[in-house]
Amino acid sequence: MTTTLIVLAHPDPGSFNGAWAEASARACRKLGHEVLVSDLCAMGFDAVEGRRHFPTYAEDRAFDPLKAQEEAAGAGTIPADVAAEIGKLTRADLVILHFPIWWFAPPAVLKGWFDRVLLHGRLHTVDQRFDTGMFRGKRALFCVTTGASAAESGHDGKEGDIHLLLWPMAQTLRYLGFTVLQPEAVHGVHGYFEGVEEQALRARLGAVLDGQADLIAGLEKRPEIAFNADADFDADGRLKPDSPSHSPFIRHRP
Ligand SMILES: Cc1cc2nc3c(=O)[nH]c(=O)nc-3n(C[C@H](O)[C@H](O)[C@H](O)COP(=O)(O)O)c2cc1C
Repeated sequence: MTTTLIVLAHPDPGSFNGAWAEASARACRKLGHEVLVSDLCAMGFDAVEGRRHFPTYAEDRAFDPLKAQEEAAGAGTIPADVAAEIGKLTRADLVILHFPIWWFAPPAVLKGWFDRVLLHGRLHTVDQRFDTGMFRGKRALFCVTTGASAAESGHDGKEGDIHLLLWPMAQTLRYLGFTVLQPEAVHGVHGYFEGVEEQALRARLGAVLDGQADLIAGLEKRPEIAFNADADFDADGRLKPDSPSHSPFIRHRP
């Protein structure tokens, strides 16, 4: 049986993002998945990494987050809220992340969930990352909304290419070994339309919710985001001249 973790980063479960995450959960249950949910704002997830999460970390020592995480992993003192999320992540075969774009990035609560939950020494090590990541064989999907229109979010749009805005998050999951599917983005989602335009938006969002079951059922065939293999880089970690470039983030000299 497929286990699916749905992560929602939005302060209002009644928002479109909340309704979309709920539609994902319904669709997954209908397909027979076991569904796990992390509604980060509803959980009051503390998204700020810091010393207070590691009570055994010596007070007179400079706080090194990677060392604090690694030592907690080794000593069995992983913070309880992080341990619970790690438990869900390791059980999941599929992770669906629902969130709006806020300032060209995910909401801080989701970035902070990455910072704290993707624990060094537990979910990744120097030897287990990228091609050797612990989550090899597992899939992740971003379901994301923007206030900007589809045109403004395109490759030449004034709000920046949504695929590039999402790349750091996708690369994070790739670092852990995940296969990251092409994102599903719904654009022009905001409360400033009136009259006919507002009705058109409602109809469009309703169709997204109605179509979510088909989207989830079709994930097997959904294309993946392409990433470089470890062998594409030289000993210094630079892209070899004959290796492909899949993103402007990792490119040959312009
Ligand atoms: C703090 C904040 C920053 C935002 N920044 C962006 C942005 O950079 N690009 C964009 O397209 N929309 C931006 N928006 C609009 C949101 O993406 C939009 O409100 C959301 O996708 C609507 O979904 P919802 O109805 O589920 O909240 C921002 C909204 C907020 C609250």
